[in-house]
Amino acid sequence: MPQWTYICDAADLPPGAVLRVRIADGWYAACNRGGTFHVVDNRCPHADGSLARGRVEGNCLICPVHGWPWDLRTGLTDPSLPHMRLRFFRCEARDGRLYADVTQPILPEDVTLPGFAP
Ligand code: FES
Repeated sequence: MPQWTYICDAADLPPGAVLRVRIADGWYAACNRGGTFHVVDNRCPHADGSLARGRVEGNCLICPVHGWPWDLRTGLTDPSLPHMRLRFFRCEARDGRLYADVTQPILPEDVTLPGFAP
């Protein structure tokens, strides 16, 4: 059963923005990719960088540690590295407020690109 947690007002996360949010016992990165909200594990799959300290460019969340671009549609940084992938969680906007459910990961929005293996 989902457990929705308020994370911020939608106005506080404009396109291109990233916020670090604490939900239950974990840290997450909430970001806005051109009007689409995402919540992902804050730990970069490469070497645990804090993705919430990164930035959104186009469809990607750029890690601040080594600058790798993580595609927010697929969770991948490189289709040849399918074992390294962002973990996504449900995020919904309701009445101008954003909520996340981190009880279990969800599939990324696009699972058709090369390299994706659920
Ligand atoms: S720690 Fe994120 S790209 Fe290396």
